[in-house]
Amino acid sequence: MKTKADRIANMPDYPFARWGEKVRAARAAGLDVIRLDIGNPDLPPPDKVVDALCSSARDPSAHGYPGYRGIPQLREGITSYYERRFNVNLNPQEEVVPLLGSKEGIAHLSLAILDPGDLVLVPDPGYPSYTMGAVIAGARVHKFPLLPERGFLPDLDAIPSDVALEAKVIWLNYPNNPTAATADLKFLEQAVAFAREHDILLCHDLPYCDVTYDGYTAPSVLQVPGAKEVAVEFNSLSKTYNMAGWRVGIAAGNPDVLASLFAIKSNVDSGQFLPVQEAAARALETPEDWIKARNRIYKERISTAVSGLAALGFPVSPQKATFYIWTRVPEGQNSEGFATALLENTGVSVAPGSFFGEKGEGYIRISLTSPKAHIAEAMDRIRKYISGLSST
Ligand SMILES: Cc1ncc(COP(=O)(O)O)c(C=O)c1O
Repeated sequence: MKTKADRIANMPDYPFARWGEKVRAARAAGLDVIRLDIGNPDLPPPDKVVDALCSSARDPSAHGYPGYRGIPQLREGITSYYERRFNVNLNPQEEVVPLLGSKEGIAHLSLAILDPGDLVLVPDPGYPSYTMGAVIAGARVHKFPLLPERGFLPDLDAIPSDVALEAKVIWLNYPNNPTAATADLKFLEQAVAFAREHDILLCHDLPYCDVTYDGYTAPSVLQVPGAKEVAVEFNSLSKTYNMAGWRVGIAAGNPDVLASLFAIKSNVDSGQFLPVQEAAARALETPEDWIKARNRIYKERISTAVSGLAALGFPVSPQKATFYIWTRVPEGQNSEGFATALLENTGVSVAPGSFFGEKGEGYIRISLTSPKAHIAEAMDRIRKYISGLSST
């Protein structure tokens, strides 16, 4: 009996699923684990969003199939959000598709527009689903490096021209996971020009656009004039409104690409639970004050972690967005080895940078999605561990 398609024969396990097993084993061994590995917001969504979910779920008529395209209220909530937040106008019928989390849409996008053997340009380090979506679709991946000396922005001109001409899709993600780097609108303009010149679909992934600090405002690629001709943007309610478990994402932009994405989705899923859609529409109306107050909490956590790490000699730079800290492992150690030793010796769980690609080797990513007291405790444990290492 065949139990595996060729296209997934060499597909590694999703790295964070594998890491989750290590965390479970550490807990089973009696360790008090502080999880700073996955970007899983610990704070709650706005109250009114939870209230909307509960009251909608009490309606006996809310439990059937909700329809495929997303309810008008949610689509219009998305377009109003894009207009208010980015001054971008979208047609709610054709230029927006609600997703079961943006990860779902990212993976299905590849199936929707790529043929086996097509070439995809993916940042290294980068969110694993860009590569995995391409692998599932039987496509080939060309990785381009994000390097510290360029502020983790790619040098698009360094992509060989034959590769750029062959490629069908390029993935970009700013504010960036895992590096916390940001890009300005000028960079996104260059990316749109690159996509246009090479006849490539630009997929911009923007889930951290509202996790920003010190007055920084992250741009949407759709702000670039004419971007809809060559780009789609993925967005998410997971980080903006602390709704990661709800699975609500957004694809917006080029209507032809979105029609292909919808063709796949309507054959794979049957839409999203109606109360979730109704509550998500309410979330998208959340006043900016709520977001600012939430971001102040992240900012305090970042300060706690940065001062702890800097005192231990980990290189850390100031950041304008995301709740991640991307820092180098001590000299002579590798990412997964260091993160594993840290977990097993201290119970502090951070993500090995190698989970995000070869260029992530030598780094760890620390996710500040735990209370400040836990972060302070984690820094203390790391300090004791590192000083133990240097005294042996
Ligand atoms: C860069 C990036 N894109 C997409 C996602 C997926 O988010 P979700 O599926 O929760 O919308 C994540 C989640 O961590 C992410 O970091």
